[in-house]
Amino acid sequence: MGLAVAEKYRLYESAVQCFENDINFINQEFKKEFGKLPKFLREDFGGTGAMACGWVKQGKDRQARAIDLDDDPIKYGIENHYAALTTSEKRRMEYIKGNVLDQYEFVPDVIVAFNFSYFIFKSRKALLEYFTQVRKSLKSDGAFFLDIFGGTEARQLLEEETEHEEFTYIWDCDSYNPLTDDCLYYIHFKTHADKKLHKKVFTYDWRMWGLPEITDILIDAGFSKVETYWEGEDGKGSGDGNFYRTKNAGNCESWVTYLMATTK
Ligand SMILES: C[S@@+](CC[C@H](N)C(=O)[O-])C[C@H]1O[C@@H](n2cnc3c(N)ncnc32)[C@H](O)[C@@H]1O
Repeated sequence: MGLAVAEKYRLYESAVQCFENDINFINQEFKKEFGKLPKFLREDFGGTGAMACGWVKQGKDRQARAIDLDDDPIKYGIENHYAALTTSEKRRMEYIKGNVLDQYEFVPDVIVAFNFSYFIFKSRKALLEYFTQVRKSLKSDGAFFLDIFGGTEARQLLEEETEHEEFTYIWDCDSYNPLTDDCLYYIHFKTHADKKLHKKVFTYDWRMWGLPEITDILIDAGFSKVETYWEGEDGKGSGDGNFYRTKNAGNCESWVTYLMATTK
């Protein structure tokens, strides 16, 4: 038997997400840019909306919307994240079952597209359409935050295992097409208690975008400026969790970093 739907999102969140760090980073960089903290967040490809629920806990002036096409993660988020909010926090947070390409009435300070979700747009035209919609949806002093990964290992067919207390998380690069940059990735989980391997719990059919292309498309979509970041090193060959603005970095096997595109 496969993993129950709720279990699949619980394991995903525990293996992949650390939205607290993302929120701290957004607060810090937005303040540096605009001299004030952002209030209204739109979480695109929000899945369970864990980050949006964390956002409204930051203060009474904070609002959030989480947009996703899929009922399953939204249901998990409502039962596990939204349900744990106070009445005031609940009033300021909303799940939207919808498409990130659509126009919405609210105008946020910040839009995020994390965990590389925009890699589903495989052509420049499709990605430009999405970025243009994001640009149009933001306040006049607003920011769009994205993450991106790369490195010499990013296009290699390999399975990378990470041990957690209850399970092993397996990131599987199954295929890579050098003519199109199309990549097929899977997430598998090995659960320790029953020693079962759950294959292809999540599938990602993506185009592996590069940072300079993303920057160019953001500028073509009407953003004024794109800041790129790089992670500091901990001295033992890993990142230290501190991301700083730079246009220059040394190559490495595997990296994950942020971009911030501003409307002003
Ligand atoms: C990789 S998950 C990201 C989940 C979460 N935001 C995170 O950071 O881990 C991608 C999510 O995007 C959603 N999605 C894909 N295309 C979408 C679209 N056009 N509009 C809204 N959501 C979409 C999927 O249903 C899925 O839940």
